[in-house]
Amino acid sequence: SSDTEVHRGLAGVVADTTSISKVVPETNSLTYSGYPVQELCAKCSFEQVAYLIWHGELPTEDQLRGFVETERSQRELGSATLEILDRLPTTCHPMDALRTAVSVLGAEDETEDEPGREANLAKAQALYAKLPTIMAAFYRRRQGLDRIAPDPSLGFSENVFQMCFGKVPAPEIVAAFDTSMILYAEHSFNASTFAARVVTSTLSDLYSAVTAAIGALKGPLHGGANEAVMRMMLDVGDADRAVAWLDEQLAAKQKVMGFGHRVYRNGDSRVPTMKEALIKVAGLTDGQQWLDVYQALEQAMLDRKNIHPNLDFPSGPAYYLMGFDIDMFTPLFVLSRITGWTAHILEQQAANSLIRPLSAYTGPEQRPVP
Ligand code: CMC
Repeated sequence: SSDTEVHRGLAGVVADTTSISKVVPETNSLTYSGYPVQELCAKCSFEQVAYLIWHGELPTEDQLRGFVETERSQRELGSATLEILDRLPTTCHPMDALRTAVSVLGAEDETEDEPGREANLAKAQALYAKLPTIMAAFYRRRQGLDRIAPDPSLGFSENVFQMCFGKVPAPEIVAAFDTSMILYAEHSFNASTFAARVVTSTLSDLYSAVTAAIGALKGPLHGGANEAVMRMMLDVGDADRAVAWLDEQLAAKQKVMGFGHRVYRNGDSRVPTMKEALIKVAGLTDGQQWLDVYQALEQAMLDRKNIHPNLDFPSGPAYYLMGFDIDMFTPLFVLSRITGWTAHILEQQAANSLIRPLSAYTGPEQRPVP
């Protein structure tokens, strides 16, 4: 009967409603509150889109001014967070640093368990403001460099570059980064968002839910793929080697990172926009080699398996050409997806039902203990 039907990986299961975004695999489209992401990338900043994801409407000029001011004023970290970041081994993955810092911020927040949309939206916005500072602090320390304080005169994306590298690159590069932030912001019930909703459904706090989401995003089948893509491209090295390299992978039954998607079967709606951004970045950074590898791998994967690239395929080389260390790519995804995660946490809190599925038992029949 349908009661005992198993849906491994919850594939095809509709677990709840959401008004935040809509994925339509048939038309390869993705909308945030009804707005196609491609149009949002063309016409809006990441800050405007962050506001949209939390409020369901784009901000008016006044609303945007207030929103941006709040973000810029909340970027700095408290001494407890900085001290704990300083104690982490520099060899740890930067996702561990983000996960730990969010946990500390929760421990420091005496109103951690306060219910209600207003209180939790404020916590969400504070995390959105602080995550880039956390990431950059860890990155600088690992490089043996002094921390660079956030600069409130700079926009969200500019400030990320400033805090990591001490300079803001050409506007076209910042725009490509901003595009990646908009595209990564939200994607319905993906694994990390669902993890955040599961934690929230027990009436646990927002920091616990975000910590779980960071853990889920780290894996290479999810956000970790953008790092794996660049390692793969470096391994391929030259476009001429792409086909042979791919055949070897497929013969060894290896998954090719940055390809395939649980929901999109005919291509990821976000790829064309990010590919365009990658082409711009490559033009400004002497990155033709990686564009060639991109083209060759994309074509070979279509020829061999008819599988299309996902967003991590263009964003990996784009972040690489922007100068970020490869293990910082998934943390960059976090800086953006914090908006989607917390919008879902608020939505779950507003209409909660404990998430608790069933399992079909396959162990031994009941038996007496000897
Ligand atoms: N490389 C090789 N074969 C693949 C790939 C791939 N990347 N993706 C799917 N396939 C094959 C798979 O082997 C299977 O073939 P068969 O039916 O012959 O066994 C078929 O396609 C269906 O794949 P599946 O694994 O059952 O599909 P899924 O919905 O469980 O997996 C996925 C989706 C994203 C986990 C998978 O495509 C994958 O592992 N991709 C590589 C990792 C990746 O790029 N993840 C990023 C996802 S998108 C953005 C994000 O979350 O960051």
